[in-house]
Amino acid sequence: MLKKLFGKKPLRKVRLVGTEHEFEVGRNETVLESALKAGLAYPHDCTVGTCGTCRSRLVAGKVDAITPFGYTLSRAELEGGYILACQAVPESDLEIEVDLAGPAATKTAARLVATEDLTHDIKRVIWQCDAPVHYRAGQYMNVTWPGAPGPRSYSFSAAPDEVGQTRVSTFIRKVPGGAFTERLFGEDLTGLEFEIEAPHGGFWLRDGDGPILLIAGGSGLSPLISVLEDAVARGVRRDALLLFGGRAERDLYCLDQIDEISRRWLGRFDFRPVLSEERAEGRRSGMVTDEVPAAIEWLGGSAQLQGYLCGPPGMIDAGVAALVATGVGLGEIHYDKFTDASSRST
Ligand SMILES: Cc1cc2nc3c(=O)[nH]c(=O)nc-3n(C[C@H](O)[C@H](O)[C@H](O)COP(=O)(O)OP(=O)(O)OC[C@H]3O[C@@H](n4cnc5c(N)ncnc54)[C@H](O)[C@@H]3O)c2cc1C
Ligand code: FES
Repeated sequence: MLKKLFGKKPLRKVRLVGTEHEFEVGRNETVLESALKAGLAYPHDCTVGTCGTCRSRLVAGKVDAITPFGYTLSRAELEGGYILACQAVPESDLEIEVDLAGPAATKTAARLVATEDLTHDIKRVIWQCDAPVHYRAGQYMNVTWPGAPGPRSYSFSAAPDEVGQTRVSTFIRKVPGGAFTERLFGEDLTGLEFEIEAPHGGFWLRDGDGPILLIAGGSGLSPLISVLEDAVARGVRRDALLLFGGRAERDLYCLDQIDEISRRWLGRFDFRPVLSEERAEGRRSGMVTDEVPAAIEWLGGSAQLQGYLCGPPGMIDAGVAALVATGVGLGEIHYDKFTDASSRST
């Protein structure tokens, strides 16, 4: 299969639309590999076609896929011309649209200094780093520790400092059978040395005047709190609605923090928790993504609306489909799927 894909292909050129960047794709390389060799901060994480971070829009040209894009991208995304750069081998010269991630990631040693229970299965985790970490609100870090089977990705949960910061935090959900999270929830890891590599990802608030719909599930609230607190600090004046999906009342958290964001938000702001397995007075029940049409109506319609989604892959897929069905353009939808080792094996 790989021989058929890479074979004796001529070198192909890739132009990144709307930028001055152009690079050649080597004979045995994917679009992502060549972009990284050219020194571009092309968004990526897993590099094996499961996380969706390298999602890009093919504007012109033809690519072949090492693994079918449809394992990770929705039908609407495929129809909209989206590809996964880490799995794409050019069949012709290409024009691609992608938001480059900004400065390249750097590494620092860091010590885990505190944890706080947010719910029965989510903790806030704080690291003290040797060197300042720079990121945009919404981005994530890769974390490793001595003997780690591989890096784990965690989205920053606080608004960044312009000068970088040596104290970083995230929200981490316990994954049953997970190598790192079982340890985190079973032992006191305070003082343990880690290595943090950041920034990663292309998830941040885009410029615009239209309304913002944010959808989180579980620990997916982490980057959305970062995005919202950063927007408050920068004085962003747009209407925003935050949908949060949990199973039951005990899954809701950061309510005081969201209240404070709501108080300081300059446009209209609404927060709608949705419980899928429990009925509680004054709470919406059902799947969080079923609330998308009502949320868009409250925001004044889908024109110029941007969608930001974070959390489990199933919720993202349903959320993207609901946004598209309500008329939101795929180019206005941004997400980070919290994939883990179990997603990678499917
Ligand atoms: C861009 C991005 C951002 C993320 N941000 C966050 C965040 O902010 N907060 C958060 O909580 N999580 C986040 N995640 C998920 C996080 O990176 C980890 O995947 C998660 O914490 C699980 O790590 P773990 O070591 O506990 O589990 P792992 O050891 O990776 O295992 C995960 C699950 O897979 C199973 N498993 C392990 N190996 C296999 C195998 N070979 N085949 C099948 N199943 C297997 C395990 O039993 C377990 O159920 C993010 C992921 C991505 C991609
Ligand atoms: S980097 Fe391409 S899908 Fe994860």
